[in-house]
Amino acid sequence: MKNIVVFASHNGSDLQAVIDGCREGKIAGRVAAVISNNNDAYALKRAGIAGIDGFCLNSALYPDETLFDRKTLEVLEKYDADIIFLAGYLKKIGPLVLQKYENRIFNIHPALLPKYGGRGMYGMNVHKAVIEAGEEFTGVTIHKVTADYDAGGIVKQAKIPVLKDDTPGTLAARVLELEHRFIVEVLSEICLNENYL
Ligand code: GRF
Repeated sequence: MKNIVVFASHNGSDLQAVIDGCREGKIAGRVAAVISNNNDAYALKRAGIAGIDGFCLNSALYPDETLFDRKTLEVLEKYDADIIFLAGYLKKIGPLVLQKYENRIFNIHPALLPKYGGRGMYGMNVHKAVIEAGEEFTGVTIHKVTADYDAGGIVKQAKIPVLKDDTPGTLAARVLELEHRFIVEVLSEICLNENYL
């Protein structure tokens, strides 16, 4: 059983999919802890409801980036993390954590990278850009995390068509629904296959 630590900044519906996937035995792992940079994140409530320890670590508490990084590492070590999964986490990962967990940090992005990634490409911005560009397809990317936003090696992608009458809102909803299935599918492969790590 792999210990998965999930980082989430907001609603945490992807986190919920991972919690459920683990509990239903679809993923050979458990969510060992949840880390958020937002004290009001519903993701932390979800963790509490599931009986999982949640932590808020942010720059208000730790304005010094190195201390922030060290505190994050402390939580990861305490929970013996094997895998870190960023599920809607909007802060960059510090160099200490990146080094210690190299190749074991994954992110889910609501578009087909390398397009529609990078700084500013999050939330509705992504879906707006996809529609404005007239893309026929969009989807979900799970990739490894490096020091730059959305730039690490792609692990797996899933594709869906952009419909003629899609708005950013309808597209976002369909992509998120796909994410909930895809995150479980890919994490279950990652947990079983050491080659991913
Ligand atoms: C998802 O679209 C994910 O791809 C992105 O942030 C969103 C998180 O949604 N990185 P939620 O907070 O899990 O509901």
